[in-house]
Amino acid sequence: MTKQPRLLIDALRGIRTPRAPFWFMRQAGRYLPEYRAVRATAPDFVRFCLNPVQAAEVTLQPIRRFGMDAAILFADILLIPHALGLEVAFKEGEGPVLATVTNAAEISLLEAHLPAAAETLSPVYETVERVRSALPESCALIGFAGSPWTVATYMVEGRGGHDFARVRRMALGAPQDFSRLIEVLVDATVSYLDRQITAGADAVQLFDTWAGVLPVSEFERWCIAPTAAIVTRLRARHPNVPIIGFARGAGTNLTTYASRTGIDAIGLDAGVAPSWAAREVPAKLCLQGNLDPVLMAIGGSALEGAAQTILDAWSPRSFVFNLGHGITPDVPVENVARLSRLLLDWRRAWSTA
Ligand code: CP3
Repeated sequence: MTKQPRLLIDALRGIRTPRAPFWFMRQAGRYLPEYRAVRATAPDFVRFCLNPVQAAEVTLQPIRRFGMDAAILFADILLIPHALGLEVAFKEGEGPVLATVTNAAEISLLEAHLPAAAETLSPVYETVERVRSALPESCALIGFAGSPWTVATYMVEGRGGHDFARVRRMALGAPQDFSRLIEVLVDATVSYLDRQITAGADAVQLFDTWAGVLPVSEFERWCIAPTAAIVTRLRARHPNVPIIGFARGAGTNLTTYASRTGIDAIGLDAGVAPSWAAREVPAKLCLQGNLDPVLMAIGGSALEGAAQTILDAWSPRSFVFNLGHGITPDVPVENVARLSRLLLDWRRAWSTA
């Protein structure tokens, strides 16, 4: 047990903390000069993620500068496809490019890699150990993985965010094949997160970045069900480790996502009104989010006003302050510093309880 309380863990467990703990998605990244300096020495992005010394260093960089309440492990959701034997490359200015998975035979090849996949990623657990031992006691360490739907999207499309026709067609037209792929990803993700937790992660987050692509009729099968399976299996092994679910773009599907997946906290994107979330998400769940990351690039009173709106709307509940999506490379470091100071100084108005 820790001597000093970790604000983030208290909030994720539903406790209304004196101030809101905060961290920012993509808090380690290209907007930081010290990140770019380390990145420049790495041969490629996958090897960077699998280098425990470098990955631990960039995980810690934002904490040293801004004093967030949580560090997020430096890694990537596409390390699981890599560990399943799929070619994964990150191209400058293009983002990730993967060998595609198109049929049952290719899914069988992935299945063959499954028993060794979590072990292939053992450098990540060494990163977790290094970070946990270097972090201040009061700072939590968040492990993470992509949710099966989002990871499958990259594996079937070969890239993200452009055209979801192939993955949609496989999910609807070859549901037996697609559900095998999802099952492989559920198994790999459970083993991977189990190892991260054993190595020292205090909480974990599941990123379902492309949840918003799914129509309501398929949301249950490809977003909720695999997430619920992961949550059930992880909780059986680690009953006290909070799980955050982030189903980006899920809109009104968020209410079923919140109530049916078994998550402890729900990450919200900037498309959700803070007042809607306060009203519609069951009170036992912690809220996390959801400042528009573009405001982080703009700064000034627009940024501070929007942050205040979130703080006011969620003050009666337990919540974690975050962005609605990741920090972009164009964000001035000074804006992150200003928002961090504002959040460190904020105190909950207990009278609103
Ligand atoms: O600070 C942190 O948030 C921790 C590290 C982290 C990264 N990726 C590092 C990274 C985390 C949590 C992720 C998750 C991730 N990766 C997601 C889900 C979250 C989201 O943003 O929706 C997704 C979809 C990916 C896949 C991925 N990785 C993409 C689409 C890209 C290219 C986009 C870009 O900004 O270039 C990456 C590369 C990546 N992952 C970078 C970082 C810091 C930038 C690469 C670089 O430094 O060259």
